[in-house]
Amino acid sequence: MSVEMSTLVTFAKTKGFVYQGSEIYGGLANSWDYGPLGILLKDNIKNLWTREFVQKRKDMVLLDAAIMMNPNVWVASGHVGSFSDPLMECKDCNTRHRADKLIEEALEKDAGFPVPTNWAGDKTALEDLNVYMKLGHIACPNCGKKNWGDVKRFNLMLSTHQGTTEDATALVYLRPETAQGIFVNFPNIARSSRKKIPFGVAQAGKAFRNEITPKNFIFRTREFEQIEIEYFCKPGTDAENFENWLSEEQRFFTEVLGFKSDKVQFVEIPAEGLPHYSKRAGDFEYLFPFGWWEISTLANRTDYDLRAHMELSKQDLSYFDPFDNTKYVPYVIEPSIGLSRLTLAAMCDAYDEVTTEEGSRVVMRFAPAVAPIKVGIYPLVKKFAPQAEELFARLSSEFMCDYDESGTIGKRYARADETGIPYSICVEPENYDAGQVTVRDRDSWEQEVVKLDELVTWLKNKGC
Ligand code: GAP
Repeated sequence: MSVEMSTLVTFAKTKGFVYQGSEIYGGLANSWDYGPLGILLKDNIKNLWTREFVQKRKDMVLLDAAIMMNPNVWVASGHVGSFSDPLMECKDCNTRHRADKLIEEALEKDAGFPVPTNWAGDKTALEDLNVYMKLGHIACPNCGKKNWGDVKRFNLMLSTHQGTTEDATALVYLRPETAQGIFVNFPNIARSSRKKIPFGVAQAGKAFRNEITPKNFIFRTREFEQIEIEYFCKPGTDAENFENWLSEEQRFFTEVLGFKSDKVQFVEIPAEGLPHYSKRAGDFEYLFPFGWWEISTLANRTDYDLRAHMELSKQDLSYFDPFDNTKYVPYVIEPSIGLSRLTLAAMCDAYDEVTTEEGSRVVMRFAPAVAPIKVGIYPLVKKFAPQAEELFARLSSEFMCDYDESGTIGKRYARADETGIPYSICVEPENYDAGQVTVRDRDSWEQEVVKLDELVTWLKNKGC
């Protein structure tokens, strides 16, 4: 089923997936905190990504680069020069809006919307956007007036000052993507890891963008997490490596994370829409309650980034290939995923409601590998707590477990379903003392008797 976003936001707060940031002070626009279940969910997704793309492969390594880097990194990458949105300010209410988005919306709503004769339709060119806005048809979404200032470029990087001075020499940016930390470390990693091309580097971490229109809960935020891979390959092998990563990502979303396959699609960016440095690119999209939106971008970035850093740093970032004694600047395939967006997609994908005699309630149908908590351990009545606690001690070194002895067993199962716990165990001595337990399946509600000695293996085989 598809859940309304407002329902999901309330549910996420009530259960402890995601809270509004700094809530007791009225919040901070667009900041969110991951609660006890949210952090487990996000970490599970990240750990599965590491397992699939690093641990299970011989051609991948990890990196954790600093968030604040030498500002020249962002000059070379092009972020200082062109990582910006076209903004204009309403002179009446002083709110800022994206000119290209307002024009796009106006044209979408009404195909007959007037277009100036000298408008070239280039929504990236300031001049062109100003020509359109001067027509005076678009009203401020906040106050309804049409009193706009000029459209200007607004850089999306957040910055701060390092050290005790606050002048330009101390200016540093909070990284807007994790990728550049990998590019600038390419020779270090190649040398120290002794990996031979083709090989890739994976990095998970926070990124920051001063988004103008953050929206949809944790979908677009100013502080978010990325899980990115830069896969270095020999020029000429880039097309096949792109294909490989395309199917690997598809497998990750639908088979590893278990997202419904009709809710994940890959949309190729047409050649004329590609940035100048990209040979091929496309977006993986998930069907959120608010429509199809990007969760990951896959790009063939050619040798653009390494060359840009070579030029500015005057360092040699090329690679000597021992297989054929050639030296070249590697091409890079980049599967870049938003971890915060995947966490939201996982919640949307899992959300379901069931109607029972007691009314309607939520069941979070996470794949066992993704589920924040794998096993619920519930003594049938309080006096069986010693056996249940013993079972908790036995399982908790292997799995994240929930222990609960309050309320009827039916209520505890219902709470487990809301949490998305795939397997729950009701502990009663008759079974337990005979060396077995009854395990309840969250989705089928079927019960299966499992021998205590085989329980860990049984749960692992189920994907926990
Ligand atoms: N290194 C390439 C890169 O950063 P991107 O398309 O700008 O490419 C990659 O970002 C992914 O990061 C996106 O597909 C999205 O999942 C996530 N992402 C980007 N901006 C975000 C934001 N403001 N909030 C949450 N996730 C974001």
